[in-house]
Amino acid sequence: MLNLAILASGRGSNMVSLVEAVKKKDLPVKIVAVVTNKTGAPCLDKAEDLGLPSYCLLPKDYNSRLEYDRALAGFLLEKGVDTICLAGFMWLLGAEFVSGFRGRILNIHPSLLPAFPGLEAQKQALSYGVKISGCTVHFVDEGLDSGPIILQETVPVLTSDTVESLSERILIKEHEIYPRALGLLALGKLKVFGRQVEIMK
Ligand code: GRF
Repeated sequence: MLNLAILASGRGSNMVSLVEAVKKKDLPVKIVAVVTNKTGAPCLDKAEDLGLPSYCLLPKDYNSRLEYDRALAGFLLEKGVDTICLAGFMWLLGAEFVSGFRGRILNIHPSLLPAFPGLEAQKQALSYGVKISGCTVHFVDEGLDSGPIILQETVPVLTSDTVESLSERILIKEHEIYPRALGLLALGKLKVFGRQVEIMK
């Protein structure tokens, strides 16, 4: 059984897709906490609607990024968390945090990594003029959107696309692959060999 925390800063649609999958597929996952770093983030209301314990840890209450990371890690460990899903969490976790939960932090990114890491990935894809984009679920390492890739899904980029329309098309796929990746992790089906993630039958 995984003791999962979902970290989110915004709308929380991926958080909802994870929570629904855990219930629907009866995954061996206990969602221990939803944590945000933004006051009034919509994901908090959604967590409440779903009956999940939610918490807000604000960076402004700490003196440095390291201090925030340590407080967050301490908080999560206190709650018994062993696995973390980042779902639009607007904060770059530092090396110390990442090494404390190595191989136990997942992230979803709205591009086909390694293309377009960082902010506004859909805008980057449109500006570059790619014909295909998509989304990636990966393990988190010390870099920016750079950890071993678990699952990816593609979507076409249309000439008529706006950032909004492309983001919407990608989001549909995000809601498919993130729960699938969590399920694979929970069922012990992911084996990591360096950068390669093997999915066991
Ligand atoms: C998603 O596009 C995700 O890929 C990115 O942040 C966005 C979060 O959206 N990391 P939501 O809050 O899950 O709706």
